[in-house]
Amino acid sequence: MIYRLNDKEVNIIIGKDVLNNIDLNNDRKYFIIYQNNVWDKIKIITSKIKNFDIYNVPDGEMAKDVYVALNIIKDMVKKEFTRKDAIISFGGGTVSDLSGFLASVYMRGIDLINIPTTLLSMVDASIGGKNGVNFQGIKNVIGTFYQPSMIINDTSFLYSLPYNEILNGLGEVIKYSIIMDKNLYNFLINNKEKILKLDDENVSYIINKSVDDKMKIVLSDEKETNGLRSVLNFGHTIGHAIESGSKLKIKHGFAISYGMICETKLGVDLNLIDDKIFEMVEKIIKFYEINIDKNDIDLSIALNSLRNDKKRFGNKITIPLPVDIGNYKIFPIEIEKIEKAMIECLS
Ligand SMILES: NC(=O)c1ccc[n+]([C@@H]2O[C@H](COP(=O)([O-])OP(=O)(O)OC[C@H]3O[C@@H](n4cnc5c(N)ncnc54)[C@H](O)[C@@H]3O)[C@@H](O)[C@H]2O)c1
Repeated sequence: MIYRLNDKEVNIIIGKDVLNNIDLNNDRKYFIIYQNNVWDKIKIITSKIKNFDIYNVPDGEMAKDVYVALNIIKDMVKKEFTRKDAIISFGGGTVSDLSGFLASVYMRGIDLINIPTTLLSMVDASIGGKNGVNFQGIKNVIGTFYQPSMIINDTSFLYSLPYNEILNGLGEVIKYSIIMDKNLYNFLINNKEKILKLDDENVSYIINKSVDDKMKIVLSDEKETNGLRSVLNFGHTIGHAIESGSKLKIKHGFAISYGMICETKLGVDLNLIDDKIFEMVEKIIKFYEINIDKNDIDLSIALNSLRNDKKRFGNKITIPLPVDIGNYKIFPIEIEKIEKAMIECLS
């Protein structure tokens, strides 16, 4: 699938072993940024290119420290990378966030190819052009919007992914299904076993649908200027607070899944949406057993995070809610009401 944004084309390729069949331009050098857990797969890339350097980043959120980014720039300068060369991101969302930032600033921008290896990154982090690095413990406080030219979603990489990481990615897939894709919702309900067994056809289908759903929104609001992209934040207001309140012990996809339950319940209590919708949201998340342990959450940290939400405008935060499965509306809601809903939902 090729998506045309203002000044760029993004080519997204999805399927089992698709990386094997892709030719990479050998007239330039590649700087491959990877994390340890995918080291055994790196040959699939390096066997295709003549000229490359590789850079190993720490696992998890540590990869996104701004000092890691600066060290990589130092290394790229030393190895004489120029604007006609390219960065390849090989790993989960932490690697694509870091690589996207680097590609956007190195010599004012060089080409970027994302090869995500987690489900979360395939369906969310590596697409859409948002990136970010962390500074002084503040997540994504430095970042840009910068589109990769190519995203290669090779589903065979998911076989080695821990089961929890699959559920983590499914949280975002479920989000797209509830808020904007009823067919995907029904597919998830009807094909759980095959999806969880990573059956290629089924997994490729849900990745395709998620990528297309997200890209439709990105095409309408690439840089978050007209508010349309905010629909992607369903479940994320309370979800982020849960993630922070657990000091990142609860993974993003799990936190936003519970966030979707809490925010939908809030919508019902405020008479904004029907109780039937809440039941369907709760049903699919419980069906996939995407559970959190509430004991992992420090409520005061979660409340503090909610009050400092960067989407807050005055006393309100705009929250997208499903008015039907596959259909949403955006509602500005007072912070006190969200706080109260979160306390009730987490107790
Ligand atoms: N830019 C965006 O739009 C966006 C959207 C969502 C999330 N994010 C960011 O993404 C990050 C989270 O991404 P993530 O969940 O992919 O985390 P991650 O990159 O930390 O990967 C999760 C774990 O899986 C391991 N792993 C990766 N691929 C593997 C494989 N094929 N087999 C075995 N293990 C493998 C990693 O080493 C890591 O331990 C966060 O920093 C978040 O802020 C960004």
